[in-house]
Amino acid sequence: MKSAGLIPNEEPKTKDHASPFPLEQGKPMMGAIVSTKYGSPDVLQLREVEKPTPKEGEVLIKVHAATVTAADGMMRKGIPYYGRLFLGLTKPKNPTPGTGFAGMIESVGKEVGQFKAGDRVFGEVIFGAGTNAEYTIVPEEGVLAIMPDNRTWSEAAPVCDGALTSLNFLRNLANIQRGQKVLINGASGGLGTSAVQLAKHFGAEVTGVCSSENVEMVESIGADEVIDYTKEDFTKNGSTYDIIYDTVGKSSFARCKGSLTEKGIFVSPVLSLALLLQMIWTSKFSNRKAKFSATGILPVAKLRTLLLELKGLFETGKLSTVIDRTYPLEEVPEAHRYVDKGHKKGNVVITLD
Ligand SMILES: NC(=O)c1ccc[n+]([C@@H]2O[C@H](COP(=O)([O-])OP(=O)(O)OC[C@H]3O[C@@H](n4cnc5c(N)ncnc54)[C@H](OP(=O)(O)O)[C@@H]3O)[C@@H](O)[C@H]2O)c1
Repeated sequence: MKSAGLIPNEEPKTKDHASPFPLEQGKPMMGAIVSTKYGSPDVLQLREVEKPTPKEGEVLIKVHAATVTAADGMMRKGIPYYGRLFLGLTKPKNPTPGTGFAGMIESVGKEVGQFKAGDRVFGEVIFGAGTNAEYTIVPEEGVLAIMPDNRTWSEAAPVCDGALTSLNFLRNLANIQRGQKVLINGASGGLGTSAVQLAKHFGAEVTGVCSSENVEMVESIGADEVIDYTKEDFTKNGSTYDIIYDTVGKSSFARCKGSLTEKGIFVSPVLSLALLLQMIWTSKFSNRKAKFSATGILPVAKLRTLLLELKGLFETGKLSTVIDRTYPLEEVPEAHRYVDKGHKKGNVVITLD
């Protein structure tokens, strides 16, 4: 790949100064974002690294679009620290960031039966080869599905972040039912824009909460009511909800308790000590519940089932992807700086075409 920002991986292969991707003579190379330590977006560098080869049961994907998400920013920083138990204690175990992808299968390893070269696929890679690269490797049995023909790479790559997480929270955790009143806090973000659409799909009456700038957008994706948090505090307006899904962790169970119906459920994907204690307490002693799930560590088969379910909604237009900005691969650090500000609208996509 020719790019002004590409750093050839020429570091010597010594024990003390080992390159993350030692250069092997004559092997095909590719461009990839690499970070060898936790920190600011400056730790992300575009490097020339060895192009991977699919092993038995794996597929090699030419990435056409990938994502930079709020979760990627946390993984880059290695914060919260307990995340390092999965990511690597002192530095990232997998130097290339990025989980969501859409691309074309270039080749398959032995014993692969469900996919073939030329298939357009989408999905996510968790704790494996990152997707902010020209190629990525995914197990055939991984979170991987054939892409609907009527959707673009950029629309498909973010599905496993916002939509898959929100499907897990609304349906599996909160058991959303037709006719329920559901409030989505952070309705304009990656998780929020999917959550509004999914809650409508499940037949709920949906209230979205966002700032003035995003009110129109949140209405346009189906919210029945939108509360501008710069003008009104939804916890003080007297309304009650069967489900409050705080996608951005800006509120809390304690603040929302009075806005929940008698058996109302508060769910949030942002874990704090308070939420952990409230989960334990409410599971035994309260009709109103607080719940959290780490979607990324659910069994792969479960994540794949969620992806296949979303594929149908995505194909029929019941679910669409809100795209805020797109960046080329060499601008991944810039994309991280933007996402770190915490005000992206829907999704940030990396395009590799
Ligand atoms: N547990 C899990 O399984 C899981 C999975 C994926 C992600 N996550 C986590 O989920 C969180 C959300 O991810 P995301 O991608 O949806 O984030 P995001 O897209 O970066 O969130 C940005 C959105 O948050 C809104 N926002 C900011 N301050 C707000 C406030 N005070 N009240 C209401 N909305 C506010 C912004 O709207 P305005 O500009 O209008 O303020 C913006 O549209 C992250 O912490 C991520 O790490 C957890």
